[in-house]
Amino acid sequence: MEKRTPLFIANWKMNKTSKDILSFVGVFKEWVKGMTHSCEIVLAPTAVYLAELISLTQHTSLKVAAQNCGGSKSGAFTGEISPVMLKDLGVAWVILGHSERRHIFKEDDSLVNVKLKAALEEDLTPVFCVGEKLEERKAKNTFSVIERQLQGLKSFSESQLSSLVIAYEPVWAIGTGENASPEQAQEVHAFIRKWLSNNISPTFANSARILYGGSVKADNSTALMVMADVDGLLVGGASLDPLSFSEIVRQGLNS
Ligand code: PGA
Repeated sequence: MEKRTPLFIANWKMNKTSKDILSFVGVFKEWVKGMTHSCEIVLAPTAVYLAELISLTQHTSLKVAAQNCGGSKSGAFTGEISPVMLKDLGVAWVILGHSERRHIFKEDDSLVNVKLKAALEEDLTPVFCVGEKLEERKAKNTFSVIERQLQGLKSFSESQLSSLVIAYEPVWAIGTGENASPEQAQEVHAFIRKWLSNNISPTFANSARILYGGSVKADNSTALMVMADVDGLLVGGASLDPLSFSEIVRQGLNS
């Protein structure tokens, strides 16, 4: 089986101003210098600080992601940020279909798929988020919801999708303090990998990274990362503090 490089993403959501970012990076980059395991670490600030974070993380192994992008290259879309602009700025990663975008900002599957297409056209690495709501889990619809959210991937070729990362984030676990158990996460991750194998290709399924997100903390990161199909973590609240995020990465890599 191919070895998938562990991936840790800090999703800062609508938090941190310039001063906070400066102090986070100051501490975190020193810690990263001493790392011995190989992995990828991506930081996702709000859009207004992307350029600043890119400059602060120059000459480090840290990467930068946008939390969202628009679905068109340019045009009359007030308030949107095009993937062309992200690329122009030097941003290589973009989170798409995060549950807060889907449920608070009412982005449906078709809009998320339009954004995915636009991001792939600019060669950005999408972190494509899927996940069921509590009532959907209770009604035993988890797999059908995930399957529906994944459908749009079928319209791309395997080579177009080559950089794609998938994040499984059960909506009921995000920001609630209640993480999915490692077994619950593994069950859905294995389902996603099987779907990728059947619908894209077995090679793609074997190499694609599937992250877990939802109330990840240092004390559950090892147990989650030990699971065969959990290749990394997408961390919200616990990524805001550099010591807490570095501890999540450290414990995750010790798995
Ligand atoms: P949380 O958020 O870690 O605060 O639950 C995760 C996410 O929304 O990506």
